[in-house]
Amino acid sequence: MTDAFDVVVIGSGPGGYVCAIRAAQHGLTVAVVEQAPTFGGTCLNVGCIPSKTLLHTSELFEEAAKKFSGFGIEIGQPTLDLTRMMSHKNGAVEANVAGVAYLFKKNAIAAFHGRGAIASPGKVRVTAADGAVREIAAKAIVVATGSEPAPLPGVAIDEQRIVSSTGALSLSEVPKRLVVIGAGVIGLELGSVWRRLGAEVTVVEYLDRILPGMDGEVSRQAQRIFARQGLAFRLSSKVEGVVEKGGALEVTVASADGKTPATAIPADIVLVAIGRRPVTAGLGLETLGIATDSRGRIAVDAGFRTSVDGVYAIGDVIAGPMLAHKAEDEGAALAERLAGKAGGVNHAVIPSVVYTMPEIASVGQTEEELKAAGTAYRTGKFPFTASGRARATGRTEGFAKVLTEEGTDRVLGVHILGANASEMIAEAAVLMEFGGSAEDLARTCHAHPTFSEAVREAAMAAWWKPVHL
Ligand code: FAD
Ligand code: NAI
Repeated sequence: MTDAFDVVVIGSGPGGYVCAIRAAQHGLTVAVVEQAPTFGGTCLNVGCIPSKTLLHTSELFEEAAKKFSGFGIEIGQPTLDLTRMMSHKNGAVEANVAGVAYLFKKNAIAAFHGRGAIASPGKVRVTAADGAVREIAAKAIVVATGSEPAPLPGVAIDEQRIVSSTGALSLSEVPKRLVVIGAGVIGLELGSVWRRLGAEVTVVEYLDRILPGMDGEVSRQAQRIFARQGLAFRLSSKVEGVVEKGGALEVTVASADGKTPATAIPADIVLVAIGRRPVTAGLGLETLGIATDSRGRIAVDAGFRTSVDGVYAIGDVIAGPMLAHKAEDEGAALAERLAGKAGGVNHAVIPSVVYTMPEIASVGQTEEELKAAGTAYRTGKFPFTASGRARATGRTEGFAKVLTEEGTDRVLGVHILGANASEMIAEAAVLMEFGGSAEDLARTCHAHPTFSEAVREAAMAAWWKPVHL
């Protein structure tokens, strides 16, 4: 007998597991197919959770070494027990993936371990690790197979010395010299982790700026701060290859325009972090005629429908920012739709965060985007040096910036460089979901003393005048 479900989800990352749970909560029968031994996908196993754990613990290590003394706490030079730091990280991962398994049981979601493929509309074939094959029937098939590191031609990742983010989250010792290829989110987060733990870190970036896509002013100031912290940047540069020489690695770097001759940077570990690409191989997309876009992502409409009836896709495997919360929200919205209700995602209001210190958080449009669109806008800014709470905690770097539409005061974008930016960006997202104005934010009472008062002051500056500047 074939197992049959209302919904079969392929992939149990934040997109897939949230879709499955929400669909079950709406009363549908649901199965999930996952090829990895644990649920939770990239985010829980080798992404958000382990990286944020190491960012937190390495930040504590750096604070203990460099800041405690200034607060009157003398502990001498702290020593690193990397094995224990990694055990704590592994524990956080295990607790989170176990949480997903628990939620699947609680919601009566059937779990199939193996590689899923769409055999035909309405049928998913699951190939287990031992080669056993079974078919499950589904009224709706949801592809949530996520993404994987984009390879760099000529630089073969072995996850030992030339690593992707996955290897960089589990190094067994602190490299003396780490070369990071790509000054994007992974490069800066994991580059920061290993720099704090003692590595000399050089970040090689093809473009002439770090964090492309983020507000330019924020990214320029962030670069200055990261450089002060000890990250060395080689911008407008391309890696031509990595070779082993005398037991170490040598990274050949030339200018992006090819005008200056290549130089070699010695390295013990090389981290390749030049972006991620969708995982679609072996799913049967070509056989079924499921359309993809020019970047290999599955093409969907606003209801997450692919070009084939009954097959849907969400998360990193479709267009949009490759972010866990974007995948989750798409999963929840699709589940609502499959249950016959209205569900949707406002892709214009998806916050994004870089969890460095200071953190960088952003929602809505950047100044560059507003200029390119010819939108007349106002800018309100407030530095954390003028925040009482920031001074009290010694975390005064950065600023909050609110961008509003000239004439209407509607908030179009909020960009924050500062400690706790990841938490503060949520109020900006709520405000923007309600089409709020800078005046709305400025007139909302904020607790004192908090970092979020700086966001309010930036809104005051965009609307009229700040108080504390
Ligand atoms: P994934 O999480 O990639 O899950 C896909 C799942 O599908 C995997 O479990 C995979 O094994 C499974 N699968 C694939 N093919 C098949 C198949 N044929 N059959 C069965 N199973 C299959 N995002 C944030 O928002 N915040 C962060 O702080 C953050 N940090 C990150 C740090 C790192 C180092 C990395 C690499 C990513 C980070 N991300 C972060 C991005 C985030 O992890 C992804 O956006 C998110 O996991 C995408 O979710 P998803 O469900 O689309 O896919
Ligand atoms: P990214 O897209 O953020 O950054 C890649 C960087 O590499 C860019 O600056 C790009 O210009 C550069 N680059 C591309 N090709 C290059 C080359 N040949 N040589 C030198 N530089 C090159 O990608 P990244 O950092 O790999 O992360 C992938 C995705 O994972 C992110 O886009 C994000 O969606 C997600 N992620 C999210 C996190 C978060 O939300 N905090 C944390 C980590 C990852």
